[in-house]
Amino acid sequence: MDHYALIGHPVKHSKSPLIHAAFARQTQQELSYQALLAPLDGFSDTVEIFRAGGGRGANITVPFKIEACSLASRLTGRARLAGSVNTLTFIDGDIVGDNTDGVGLVRDLLVNLGYQLTGRNILLLGAGGAARGVLFPLLQTRPISLTIANRTVKHAHELRAAFAPYAGQTAFTAGGFDDIVGWDFDVIINATSASLDKEPLPLPADIFAPDALVYDMMYGSGDTPFLSWARMAGVTRLSDGLGMLVEQAAESFALWRGVRPRSASVLSRLRHKLAPKD
Ligand code: ATR
Repeated sequence: MDHYALIGHPVKHSKSPLIHAAFARQTQQELSYQALLAPLDGFSDTVEIFRAGGGRGANITVPFKIEACSLASRLTGRARLAGSVNTLTFIDGDIVGDNTDGVGLVRDLLVNLGYQLTGRNILLLGAGGAARGVLFPLLQTRPISLTIANRTVKHAHELRAAFAPYAGQTAFTAGGFDDIVGWDFDVIINATSASLDKEPLPLPADIFAPDALVYDMMYGSGDTPFLSWARMAGVTRLSDGLGMLVEQAAESFALWRGVRPRSASVLSRLRHKLAPKD
């Protein structure tokens, strides 16, 4: 049997073992997938012990995605651009680092939510690791415009500058939350970690185009604070990041096993499991 793992800190509440077990059953692949808690100062040791014990690959989560980038002996182009790695594959002597978060987000938007991105105006909130990880695949969908807005304006400008060579015909801009006053967006994606603190973002309430989709890369049981804010502002198309989680897992699974699982049924079962009970 081939062994895989999720390595992070914490990992206890992760849904990844459930998702990969469901993919394995569905595609009749014999594999194990476990959650491995790495000490904060022991990421590379944890990877090495797992690999030496016959591990074939691992997903990497908070707070090790950047460290995984340096640990990899080879990086895919999208991992290099993202500056972070969420998927390691052990091939002979090599540790190959990839990043499937961005394609996971785009697949969730396009396939699961059926929302076309080409020709749309996208607002990406945040300029940290999560935002960096999804920028390249978002630009590849050829939106009319992509705007990065962030609390620290300098971070937004730095991120824009790093990805400007890949913008093509897209009007690609960056600024602070005040700079988007009076603008309309079709797709608004929260890639900040603000939901974790339950602090509302200081955003103007009139930034939604008709039929706008508001997406939070976080997920939980019921609306995240960001989605509650958008709902209060009258938006009806809302999604949390559970579909992104399932899609990035499907992409990792396909990389490792050479077979793409059908994600829709896994997503709907997970959604049902997470639904608030009254
Ligand atoms: P991650 O890997 O989750 O992206 P990160 O790299 O630390 O984590 O980035 C966190 C992002 O959330 C940043 O864009 C941060 O804004 P700053 O660049 O100004 O720090 C944003 N963020 C975190 N807490 C926030 C808050 N309370 N309000 C607004 N933005 C916040």
